Amino acid sequence: MKRILYVTSEAVPFIKTGGLADVAGSLPKCFNKEEYDVRVILPKYMCMSEEWKSKMNYVTHFYMDLAWRSQYVGVLEMEYEGVQFYFIDNEYYFAGSKPYGNIYQDIEKFAFFSKAALSALPLIGFQPDIVHCHDWQTGLIPVLLKDKFHEGEFFKDMKSVITIHNLKFQGVWDVKTVRDITGLPAYYFTPDKLEAYGDANYLKGGIVYADAITTVSDTYAEEIKTPFYGEGLDGLMRARANSLRGIVNGIDYDVFNPETDPMIEHHYNVRNFRKEKIKNKRALQRELGLEQNDSTFMVGIVSRLTDQKGFDLIAHMMDEICQNDIQVVVLGTGEEKYENMFRHFAWKYQGKVSANIFYSEALSHKVYASCDAFLMPSLFEPCGLSQLMSLRYGTVPIVRETGGLKDTVVPYNEYEGTGTGFSFANYNAHEMYFTLQYAMNTFYNKKREWNKLIDRGMAADFSWNSSARKYQELYDWL
Ligand code: ADP
Ligand code: GLC
Repeated sequence: MKRILYVTSEAVPFIKTGGLADVAGSLPKCFNKEEYDVRVILPKYMCMSEEWKSKMNYVTHFYMDLAWRSQYVGVLEMEYEGVQFYFIDNEYYFAGSKPYGNIYQDIEKFAFFSKAALSALPLIGFQPDIVHCHDWQTGLIPVLLKDKFHEGEFFKDMKSVITIHNLKFQGVWDVKTVRDITGLPAYYFTPDKLEAYGDANYLKGGIVYADAITTVSDTYAEEIKTPFYGEGLDGLMRARANSLRGIVNGIDYDVFNPETDPMIEHHYNVRNFRKEKIKNKRALQRELGLEQNDSTFMVGIVSRLTDQKGFDLIAHMMDEICQNDIQVVVLGTGEEKYENMFRHFAWKYQGKVSANIFYSEALSHKVYASCDAFLMPSLFEPCGLSQLMSLRYGTVPIVRETGGLKDTVVPYNEYEGTGTGFSFANYNAHEMYFTLQYAMNTFYNKKREWNKLIDRGMAADFSWNSSARKYQELYDWL
């Protein structure tokens, strides 16, 4: 039996700000239970819903040194869908209305979490063979495993894996403060270890010290070795290329299932979507105050509203897009300029554009189930889950060919009758617009072809099956 510990700053259903939570919450239950004991540890944030907090059981508590102080570490646990979850409790660090806040606070918060997660293991009696870390928040763990923790018998042979979900966020702060917080000796703060461009860099530490590195698609694994996508660490990614591999994300096929999803009004499947899916579109048009029209091409966007997702291309073309017979439904929060941009267009094109500037799991499912197409013209995209959800719900993705979008959406070829979506190569507003028009023309003028695109998309398999096997191979190899 192999024992694996996932250390993550978010996981569904407990807390989510983006795709990392979907992955860390749904992947652990997809391993063969006879062979792999996979458990998950994450912070117990005060902003988690009472529903979950009330179900957690106290395990133990202890005090741990950090930043010259002795800090309380509580450990709680809960089993969910057959997976053991542990929660690290500290009301000072994990207060606040969101998991992440100012970077200078987060730097200390996740040093605390990383050290506490390891320190708790002997007390809860779980000795993993492999600690699987996710993103910069847990980047210190491979470093700690090679440092202090290495001395004790308990941690001596523990291996670590780090998965990069987004290279853009690295956890960067000045060396002196990070040394004070972590207590790590000066030895680690050189450019071949934790230091990058004069500062301390958590993710870099994780990448340097982990026994294996993965990222969430093959294309992104290649892209991050180049300066454009490398976020200043492309040299390191090239240096560690032998230990780096891409494993594409899946989604939870039980949660995202148009036949059973309790969050959508009308259920459907690959056989009856032609008649049934439209009922969701009608319901959404009614709910959002859009013009009631079955035949209008409806495009959805569910996203963090950031530059990463290509919103400057959309901002540039929005007026032109709205000259067409089209409806645009947006669900997202993020940068104020994009929130206001969509509010503006919703005001300007009433009945055509719906701007929902908030977070709602339920509305997101309705958008995936109701729209004809889904727009995701990302500047970069390590994997992307929204396009997978769209494919699952028979909503045709329109994407830029980068990262996981390139690996999961097969471009429509009208001559061969193949493909599951529409895509374009260059980060260019007009290229995006022409691709959107091409999709729209196919929708309006070649309905049979359009429906076959949906057939193929819904038949594609983006459950965790094959990717979980690849993680198993990696664990076995380690
Ligand atoms: P990223 O992790 O970069 O944000 P992904 O496509 O991997 O992008 O995952 C985004 C996840 O967050 C998806 O599950 C998507 O449905 C969800 N999501 C994003 N914004 C919202 C929102 N405003 N309301 C509900 N779900 C959202
Ligand atoms: C990150 C990436 C996204 C990916 C997700 C889960 O948030 O931006 O592309 O799907 O992590 O791996």
